[in-house]
Amino acid sequence: MTLQDTLIEVQQRCQQQLQQALTQLDIGDQRLADAMHYGLLNGGKRLRPLLVYAGAEAAGARWEDVDAAAVAVEMMHSYSLVHDDLPAMDNDDLRRGKPTCHIAFDEAAAILAGDALQAAAFEHLAQAPVSETLKLRWLQLLARAAGAAGMVAGQAIDLGHVGKLMTLDELQRMHEFKTGALITAALEMGAAAGDLSEAQAQALRLCGDAIGLAFQVQDDILDIEGDTATLGKQQGADIARDKPTYPALLGIDGARQKARELTNVAIAQLRHLPGQCHTLEQLAHYVINRDH
Ligand code: IPE
Ligand code: IPE
Ligand code: MG
Ligand code: MG
Ligand code: MG
Repeated sequence: MTLQDTLIEVQQRCQQQLQQALTQLDIGDQRLADAMHYGLLNGGKRLRPLLVYAGAEAAGARWEDVDAAAVAVEMMHSYSLVHDDLPAMDNDDLRRGKPTCHIAFDEAAAILAGDALQAAAFEHLAQAPVSETLKLRWLQLLARAAGAAGMVAGQAIDLGHVGKLMTLDELQRMHEFKTGALITAALEMGAAAGDLSEAQAQALRLCGDAIGLAFQVQDDILDIEGDTATLGKQQGADIARDKPTYPALLGIDGARQKARELTNVAIAQLRHLPGQCHTLEQLAHYVINRDH
């Protein structure tokens, strides 16, 4: 199966499960429900759910064992995009090919939809039909990756360095927090349903960290080389706001080289893993060859 076929399968599976999850939430306000649907169900590559499934495969577990984790991770990610686009943050008006949530609704609605999607991610895990041990592990992994030791810290560093110089180490640290943490957590949440030794779990984390960093390096490259229609978000937004990025620091060729090195690091870990790594290998290549 090509990765494209697998991605389409994940997108369909995810769409149906996210829809069902929102229905089960019993949302108490119609406009809030509309804004949550808007932020969650309008496109998106669904790459983090794919990472959950790929992590499960690599650890010898099945997709159906980790559906709840895939849904929760995508809820968390979609919330982060709704907030990332807000005027107080990146102030973007296009996301996933549509007006951003605060443009389609208003700022307060976008803030609240993001808040509610984040809570929904944890609620979804808490009611998952899995062992209590796995459930607690999922909750820990997601909370840590999404919070002040992960994504939110990365966003804080990002916004704190607009127009400022950063060293390469600082930039890498920011990217690891901002994007890498949730990507590694997605892989680990999938793998948590299988059985990995400590050494194997460490290899999976290294693989996730490399994929996560490569993903954000490519995101930075696409801000320069992509086009708005394909990206579904405004090309040139980083430069317009003088954001710290890999191409800004290394140049476009240096950034491309960095992305390739990271892919090799990710792929080198796969031989340590006990399960099927075909999807994960394809994904590692896709992350730096994608055009959106
Ligand atoms: C965009 O993520 C934000 C970053 C972390 C770079 P994606 O490129 O995965 O966005 P969607 O979910 O496909 O819209
Ligand atoms: C966003 O990074 C990372 C998040 C935690 C949402 P960016 O600000 O680079 O993402 P895009 O380019 O707007 O998708
Ligand atoms: Mg941002
Ligand atoms: Mg942004
Ligand atoms: Mg970006």
